[in-house]
Amino acid sequence: MTIGARIEPDLAPRIEVRPAGPADIPAIRRLFAGLSADSARRRFQTGQPTPGLLAAAAGFGPGTRCLVALDPEAPGRVVGEARYVLLEPDLAELAITVADRYQGRGLGRVLLAGLVDQARAAGIGYLRSVVLMSNTAMLRLLAHYGCAQVTTADEISVVTVDIAARGGMPGWPGAARGRRVLVEQRGWFADEQTIRLAADGADVRRCQGPNQRAGRTCPLLTTGQCALAEQAQEIICLLPDGDAESAAVAAAHRRLWPERLAR
Ligand SMILES: CC(C)(COP(=O)(O)OP(=O)(O)OC[C@H]1O[C@@H](n2cnc3c(N)ncnc32)[C@H](O)[C@@H]1OP(=O)(O)O)[C@@H](O)C(=O)NCCC(=O)NCCS
Repeated sequence: MTIGARIEPDLAPRIEVRPAGPADIPAIRRLFAGLSADSARRRFQTGQPTPGLLAAAAGFGPGTRCLVALDPEAPGRVVGEARYVLLEPDLAELAITVADRYQGRGLGRVLLAGLVDQARAAGIGYLRSVVLMSNTAMLRLLAHYGCAQVTTADEISVVTVDIAARGGMPGWPGAARGRRVLVEQRGWFADEQTIRLAADGADVRRCQGPNQRAGRTCPLLTTGQCALAEQAQEIICLLPDGDAESAAVAAAHRRLWPERLAR
């Protein structure tokens, strides 16, 4: 999307999204302070964020890019905010906040698209997000992009997800921290073998395969390319056989990288 453009009428009428800077800090803090306890818990992973946490979250440290969405009835009021903070040269962490009364109207999707545009223009390849497992709206937003799960555990309340700002699937940003293993498996919870692999030092990425609900098929099937599979040293494909698209992904792995397939 073009920053500064107005959101389409069926999303959130007359809302303007624009890049933000330090002058917007007071309005961003008001947005945070006005969140319901549930939204604050999803955004800050605590229902009662301290003033220090809120001040840090609204600040503009080095490597911060931020967008704000303005209230059409009071343009000085911020009703949505999206930002990333650079972690490494090619990797930034993102967070999005939409005022409760505007949630579920498409604003999060527009803000994320704008942030991805900004990251791509800045030459950043990966955007990372740390999300509560119960935060369906955020997980659904991320699912529209090539999306890889970084954390691997059998019982988790928070999931870390990378999306690719340049399109396609994200691979491994920076230097891998062990043997690069791609596990293709539905759902957020890993099986025992994957947990053992990660515990033994493998740098595991999990991909949930084609996601028809999010309107996203596997790039291996559309473009023949997948950064995750290309960069993996080992591929474990546990996608369901009964699903035609998943079966096609498994067949593509067998054809392209037979030596990397573990089972
Ligand atoms: C998460 C958040 C940013 C999403 O923004 P939003 O404007 O509410 O979301 P959108 O209307 O753009 O919808 C995004 C997706 O979530 C779904 N969704 C929206 N609200 C939902 C809800 N309450 N329950 C389940 N799904 C929901 C939409 O259907 C859409 O899914 P789809 O794209 O597959 O159709 C917003 O809800 C929010 O600020 N929540 C509190 C803070 C937070 O959780 N921040 C993220 C932490 S990093």
